[in-house]
Amino acid sequence: MSGAKNSALPAMAASLLTDSLVLSNVPEVQDILSMGELLMGMGKTGRHEGDHWVLEGSRLHSCEASYELVKKMRASILVLGPLLARYGEVKVAYPGGCNIGARPVDLHIEGLKKMGAKIDVEHGTIHATARRLQGTEIHFDKVTVTGTENLLMAATLAQGTTVINNAAREPEVTDLVRLLKKMGARIGGEGSDTLVVEGVESLGPAEHRIIPDRIEGGTFFVLGALCADELVVRNLEPLHLKSLLSKAGEAGVSFTQEADLIRVKRCLSLKPLDLETQPYPGFPTDMQAQFMVLLTQAEGRSLIRETIFPGRYHHVDELLRLGASLKKRENGEVMVSGPTPLSGAEVTATDLRASACLVIAGLLASGVSVVNDIHHLERGYERLVDKIRSVGGDVGYLL
Ligand code: EPZ
Repeated sequence: MSGAKNSALPAMAASLLTDSLVLSNVPEVQDILSMGELLMGMGKTGRHEGDHWVLEGSRLHSCEASYELVKKMRASILVLGPLLARYGEVKVAYPGGCNIGARPVDLHIEGLKKMGAKIDVEHGTIHATARRLQGTEIHFDKVTVTGTENLLMAATLAQGTTVINNAAREPEVTDLVRLLKKMGARIGGEGSDTLVVEGVESLGPAEHRIIPDRIEGGTFFVLGALCADELVVRNLEPLHLKSLLSKAGEAGVSFTQEADLIRVKRCLSLKPLDLETQPYPGFPTDMQAQFMVLLTQAEGRSLIRETIFPGRYHHVDELLRLGASLKKRENGEVMVSGPTPLSGAEVTATDLRASACLVIAGLLASGVSVVNDIHHLERGYERLVDKIRSVGGDVGYLL
């Protein structure tokens, strides 16, 4: 597995807090290049080779993230906290929606306002200024991953102590805490839902290795549980996949795990189950589409409830084209009946994880499937086609 995109993105944004940052195990995916483009457009000097990135510089000539960049990558919002904390001003286009539904940033803005930032949102742009952010107690009404990351980065250079309650506990947030502490930040509560940050005057250089991508790992795990004699998924932290592995065990999937790998084999009789996505350590929303494919082969009826992004069901219509038996219910649940043999068809990807689910379904289906709009895949999966071919999957690009 490659490094985690959703850990590398905040880590790259954290380069705004210091003069020199060296990152390794950074995945070579489009979102990372977009973040690099954003940072260098502001004045950071950056270079990268393979999975290594070096981001340097202290003087910026712009503190603006343009709409075309934010439209391409929502994670651009992660420059809000660090730029405010170190440079006292930032302009970020208000992120639009995306294919998994509305993506508000009100919690980011409210938190920064509580720290003393002056924030105007007009003509589609968030314009924030702050002489010096003040430490304060913040309580997130909803668990927000990038909201936690933004406030965390902002608090590292604030005057005084900031307490973030109901903080996200995703491994990517903990990875950012570890990076910031290497830079000299004073942070307590690592891995818990309460982070305490004691502001310092400045942060120093750091080197950091990004954690493995647990969602890429989960994606291959599901592929193995459906199609492999035995698949070994290497370079991942099984601990980061506890909720997925526990649900897979409930469905009857047999697998073994070691320190940095999981062995999984095709399960011939899958049991149905009910699934609800939750913030970490609950079942990840980024694995909902992939797990839905698995449940199409379970013997009986399963119920899936997406609680993080209620609109995250665009893959359902595409899976129906492959012969899956799915039913969207009024209350936002999807009923999956199985086992249903899937047959190849032409389908269209709508978002990053839906694309991966369609590739898995195409490999499982009899006959040939064509997945269109796979630019979504390239945003967040490094060399997915090569990796699948390396274990015998019959997949290739239609040029
Ligand atoms: C992060 O998005 C990830 N992206 C997403 O991964 C992931 O699906 C999501 O967390 C949930 O785990 C990155 O880390 C770059 P949230 P984020 O803020 O931070 C609501 C992928 O596939 N909310 O945790 O944008 C929001 O609408 C991507 O790699 C507010 O209401 O998600 C959602 O319902 C897709 N107000 C819930 O909170 C806010 O100010 C969780 O969103 C912020 C969020």
